[in-house]
Amino acid sequence: MLSPYEFIAEKQRGNSHKPSEIHDFIQGFIEGEVHDYQMTAWMMSVFFQGMSYEETIALTKAMIQSGNRVDLSNINDPTGDKHSTGGVGDKITLILAPLLSASGMVIPTIAGRGLGFTGGTLDKLESIPGLSTALSIDEIKDLSFRNGLAFGAQTDDLVPADRRMYALRDVTSTVRSLPLITASILSKKVAEGIGSIVFDVKCGKGAFMETEPEAIELGQWLVNCAERFELKAAALITTMDEPIGRTVGNWLETEESIDVLRRKYMPPDIVELTESLGGTLLMLAGITGNIEQGINRLREAWNNGSAFDKFSQAVNAQGGDTGVFEENHGIYDQPRIVIPLTASKSGYISEIHAREVGYCGVLIGAGRKKTDDVIDPTSGFIFKKKVGDFVQQGEEILLIMGNDESQCKTVHNRLSGGVTIMKKEPAKTPLIRKVITREGNFEWLDYRNSK
Ligand code: URA
Repeated sequence: MLSPYEFIAEKQRGNSHKPSEIHDFIQGFIEGEVHDYQMTAWMMSVFFQGMSYEETIALTKAMIQSGNRVDLSNINDPTGDKHSTGGVGDKITLILAPLLSASGMVIPTIAGRGLGFTGGTLDKLESIPGLSTALSIDEIKDLSFRNGLAFGAQTDDLVPADRRMYALRDVTSTVRSLPLITASILSKKVAEGIGSIVFDVKCGKGAFMETEPEAIELGQWLVNCAERFELKAAALITTMDEPIGRTVGNWLETEESIDVLRRKYMPPDIVELTESLGGTLLMLAGITGNIEQGINRLREAWNNGSAFDKFSQAVNAQGGDTGVFEENHGIYDQPRIVIPLTASKSGYISEIHAREVGYCGVLIGAGRKKTDDVIDPTSGFIFKKKVGDFVQQGEEILLIMGNDESQCKTVHNRLSGGVTIMKKEPAKTPLIRKVITREGNFEWLDYRNSK
């Protein structure tokens, strides 16, 4: 058996690990024989040297074996989930999971926390007072069986290796690695015990994969590795250049998701992502014969209120206070500081730089700089304008909401450089670009129309 020192040195030299060595290293980490600093050194070596497909499968298996799996074999309805590789303002899981559940699927989601400049579903959900995502395996099983929807987290029982590795990667800039992302996402999804999965692989300025070829590569890794675990899988390559929807920040995004589930307002980007991912998953799971039928099924659940009811039921079942869904609930005080960012000139907004917004979110407390940082649920941004909108000089583009005046001012200065205004209306980039399945890569619209 290799010592942690030798194991790390092997990867530093660019050598391949054997599956048994990976298993021993992960097991040693869980048992306390491999320390955080050794795990970090190894992940940094993987970041630079990479890992093969076989090493990644072995890492995924070892991470799953660090805990137990959810057994959903007593559930007759199709089971599945959606997973995003991480974005800014990405609240789609909060909206899509109840929509899918109300459309006949069982969704036992194990979500993640904010990572680097991206937000995390768990942090958003936990901004609902009282809501706990620390579910045991039996609780996930029970909620899936009874309600068709559970929002769980990595725990000591469920992929504990990912929980601890994820937290270390978050603060050591080791997120952007194909094998580490693949193993992190898949270990959680396979441990859920689901039958099908749709990945939202983000691509652009607010994504870990900035270019389309990189995102396609990650999509291929995810789909191919998922097949090895007998999951029916597809990956949509989606644009992540400006924040999704009208808000960034944990409570702000949860509140926006509730409004969207209630159809109070329907931001086009949120609707397009939700319907495309959901329609694809309903088809993969065999609930509908094609994507279009899947989208119609989701719209029915949206229109008749059953998806919102599902969300309320899930929040209630996990101890969350649904009183916070009402107008003027008074549960949260508004943040103390609200600073508008206004247009320096008239013209069209051509860029709201998602990564800048994400990093600025961390600065004002909406994300973590250190693993033990406590999130400020109310801080974040409200966007009054989106890319492509026309603004008059002096008009408000966004609001910075926080509780620390000097941080809000720093962020105001930094974000002034993250927003670009031009005379000409910018060209539109498609939001959903491509889809990757085990049959190959396709243009999204061709695929959608052919299915
Ligand atoms: N989401 C995850 O769950 N893990 C990653 O590494 C990146 C995004």
